[in-house]
Amino acid sequence: MCGIVAYVGQKEAYPIILKGLKRLEYRGYDSAGVALLDEKGLNVYKKQGKVAELEEHLIGKALPAHIGIGHTRWATHGEPSDRNAHPHMSKSGKLAMIHNGIIENYAQLKQDLIKKGYVFKSDTDTEVLLNFIEDIWINNNCELEEAVRIALKRVVGAYVIVLLDADQPDTLIAARKGSPLVIGIGKGEHFLASDASPIIEYTKEVVYVNDYELAILKPDELILKNLGNEKITPFVQKLDMELAAIEKGGFDHFMIKEIFEQSETIYDCLRGRLDAEKGTIKMSGVENNMERFIHAQRIIMVACGTSWHAGLVAEYIFEELCRIPVEVEYASEFRYRNPVIHKGDIIMAISQSGETADTLVAIEKAKEQGAIIFGILNVVGSSIARASHAGAYTHAGPEIGVASTKAFTAQLTVLTMVALRIAIEKKTITHDRYMHLLNELHEVPAKVEATLKLSESIKAVAAKYADAKDMLYLGRGYNFPVALEGALKLKEISYIHAEGYPAAEMKHGPIALVDETLPVVFVATKDSYHEKIVSNMQEIKARKGKVIAVITEGDEVITGLADDVIAIPEADELIAPIISVIPMQLLAYYIGVLKGYDVDKPRNLAKSVTVE
Ligand code: F6R
Repeated sequence: MCGIVAYVGQKEAYPIILKGLKRLEYRGYDSAGVALLDEKGLNVYKKQGKVAELEEHLIGKALPAHIGIGHTRWATHGEPSDRNAHPHMSKSGKLAMIHNGIIENYAQLKQDLIKKGYVFKSDTDTEVLLNFIEDIWINNNCELEEAVRIALKRVVGAYVIVLLDADQPDTLIAARKGSPLVIGIGKGEHFLASDASPIIEYTKEVVYVNDYELAILKPDELILKNLGNEKITPFVQKLDMELAAIEKGGFDHFMIKEIFEQSETIYDCLRGRLDAEKGTIKMSGVENNMERFIHAQRIIMVACGTSWHAGLVAEYIFEELCRIPVEVEYASEFRYRNPVIHKGDIIMAISQSGETADTLVAIEKAKEQGAIIFGILNVVGSSIARASHAGAYTHAGPEIGVASTKAFTAQLTVLTMVALRIAIEKKTITHDRYMHLLNELHEVPAKVEATLKLSESIKAVAAKYADAKDMLYLGRGYNFPVALEGALKLKEISYIHAEGYPAAEMKHGPIALVDETLPVVFVATKDSYHEKIVSNMQEIKARKGKVIAVITEGDEVITGLADDVIAIPEADELIAPIISVIPMQLLAYYIGVLKGYDVDKPRNLAKSVTVE
């Protein structure tokens, strides 16, 4: 939520910050701004709307600064507007600050500052924190970094902040708690950003800042301290990411690029781990914790949104293959109730970004109660990765489209491998079934490739139903979570109201919605529920609903029944969701595009939900 970029060095800061903000726009895009400090002073430029509007606003302006901060916002406190956009200026006009996160006790701090004569120009918690820092700075007559430290000890909430002081033209001060912050180390220059994408073309040397750390950056110097003012040796890491991975590569949108990358990302996810011929799966995170998995009384999947849907599929897989009871929890609910957690329970935290605040706090809570945290994560070095005891990365590469696609199929692939690896060790699967499923996994990239070739016909289906007001998505068994995911994708991208349901549950209520105007998407590939789902389809047809069915190639029964069919390659029912979700993604994408929406940046959403 909110993207931040900052630069100090020899180059012009504005072009670097602007480009960085465009890369971080997936994190929020309701307003954007920059603060630049040059010989003439500190200037703030900000605009409601996307980064392109800020760029437009600044065309032709001389912006020679070599130090600056920039922000792209996802509103929390205060509507999207010019005045609520970041950076904010302090009362004295000497400090500018950007912030990603939420200051929970801002109301109290604001009251205290108002009593002291402060007047606020925005509705944001950020302006409150900035003036709180300035107030401490002035009253204590101390260094700015000392004032920041004192202020942050009294602040409740999550933040990454970056400050620019008009009197220190070569220094940036940044701090982090609960939101991500990466420092890029260049030659005579330093970068700061919410993730590595704005940094990657300048340097591959990075430092991930930890919670309660403060960074003081000058062109030639990086000082890292804790809130107790003790110096910390920065842990410099090499970025394992190429620039091409974060560009559109000829596609109209990141979302469609990422949908089409899936045969490759799934292959990358399997590569070096699965050997279908030898019958082996190598996953060190699982192997190092095998005893724990074998004796686990319970696995709790904790996640949000699409990642939560991956957890639901995994529930079916783990219970079937490993005979371990599984619960799937919305992180936002789990963290606030008083869940019963036994020592030795395994919590699987599933997250693309590795920064989702609800998931992060949920696992920290479970950790305090003795649970083992196993992360299924995409972003290496992310906050959840660092908070986990062990885990397995999904290797899907950067996912930039706000609607999650390739991360989901990579999560399913990793979760299936983890389950298979445990099951063979625990002897809860026969050797034949194990070998069969390994082969099935091995064949997934090719089957995904074949499914992607259906994109033109899916586009035609999309055109037929793009004017629908509501849609129903139904599935059973392993395909039930795929129906939920299909409905979520459609809502996000096309703003059509959609509901996902277990197909048999439909008769307990949602069937009342069915008439000739309601398109119903069935995820009905060949599995052990096939005959049952055909009956559910009959029930919809009998009430004149329109049926769009994702089926297994060669399924004559459903072909004769449905209004539109999308026939995908045959796969074992346990593996099928990795393939059957692809038509769901394509359908939502094409409907969103046909309706003229910005599918990469759907309204009100952000990629990385770092607020609760
Ligand atoms: C849906 C979507 C969101 C995320 C959710 C969790 O397309 O992208 O529902 O899945 O915000 O995010 P991560 O996986 O980063 O924890």
